Amino acid sequence: MTNVGIIGLGMMGQMHLTAWEGIAGTRRRMVADTDPRRAAGDFSGSWANMEGGAKSIDFTKIIGTTDPMELIHSDEVDLVDICVPTPFHLDLALAAIKAGKHVLCEKPLARTAKDARIIAKAAAQGKGLFMPAMCLRFWPGWSWLKQAVEKGTYGKVISAEFNRIGSLPPGWFSNGEWSGGAILDLHLHDTDFVHYVFGMPEAVSSSGWVGPSDCVDHVHTQYFFADGPVVTAEGSWAAAPSMPFEMSYRVLFEEASAEFRLDRPEAPLMLYRRAKGNRKPPEPKPVKCPAGDGYKLEMAYLSKCIRKGITPSIVTPTEAADSIRIVEAETKSVLTGRRVRL
Ligand SMILES: NC(=O)c1ccc[n+]([C@@H]2O[C@H](COP(=O)([O-])OP(=O)(O)OC[C@H]3O[C@@H](n4cnc5c(N)ncnc54)[C@H](O)[C@@H]3O)[C@@H](O)[C@H]2O)c1
Repeated sequence: MTNVGIIGLGMMGQMHLTAWEGIAGTRRRMVADTDPRRAAGDFSGSWANMEGGAKSIDFTKIIGTTDPMELIHSDEVDLVDICVPTPFHLDLALAAIKAGKHVLCEKPLARTAKDARIIAKAAAQGKGLFMPAMCLRFWPGWSWLKQAVEKGTYGKVISAEFNRIGSLPPGWFSNGEWSGGAILDLHLHDTDFVHYVFGMPEAVSSSGWVGPSDCVDHVHTQYFFADGPVVTAEGSWAAAPSMPFEMSYRVLFEEASAEFRLDRPEAPLMLYRRAKGNRKPPEPKPVKCPAGDGYKLEMAYLSKCIRKGITPSIVTPTEAADSIRIVEAETKSVLTGRRVRL
């Protein structure tokens, strides 16, 4: 049994606390938050107060502390799950690696690519397994796309477009020194997914807007690949709060088109096939996606890797650091108006 300890019980920590429930081979054992109320399992006033959320969790068997180092060094914990604001990832990740624990660390792996590389280097020497929580690589309908491109199921990709549009989240996100702006905190998801599916781009060209975080809070990027498809992604915190959050992709293959839309819950992923020869084109078809979300699926994968003693390969710390490097190139491109080589 892998005993899980979660550090940081804000929006994401509460999401993780809920998602760990029922993950085979694990149990929630300890939590740490510098806010004593949260460390004691009191989530009143936070969004996860929804039914079935963190509020309904029985805390009698979960140890709470306000000291993250106590959790990291506790014999009760085998896996440290880091869900604190981004600038604190580095020190906590290094301490957990040094303590010989398995680690799941929320994205971005660190505030800068340089810090993320320090983590990746330490993780390579660590006794435990280390996985950056790049949940999109596990997301139902997104892992399907990775397979379809890799296997060439529908021929080559001609074009791929990704969109992630929301409003500025409350709290520390408006401090760009901490969050890195929408380009790092939000758009990184798509940059990392592009990196996962199409490899490291040769260059990026981005336009954007420096917003309330004083970093790039709206970005539109074209990723360049040698002989590759046209790949673009847009990420933003510039939407009005009343506009529903958009998470979508549209990929045009030689033989089919695929479209994912979060705002179409009855059929988030649709596949439109071309007709073969003179035959009638097949009806558009929803693609069946696995149940759950990317958080549960990434946790189930990490738990399986721990049980089997396999190093996670769907996402590695070095890849997570390289994705931040791409985002930093995108920022440079926005600020200089030039294409930036990687
Ligand atoms: N994967 C995703 O889709 C996704 C979504 C949102 C946020 N995130 C990431 O998750 C991380 C946390 O974001 P959030 O939205 O949950 O933030 P949040 O502000 O809602 O919560 C942070 C929590 O950490 C606690 N905390 C702060 N510093 C601490 C420390 N040193 N030790 C222990 N506890 C500490 C705070 O008291 C708070 O309860 C960020 O890196 C963010 O980018 C990921």
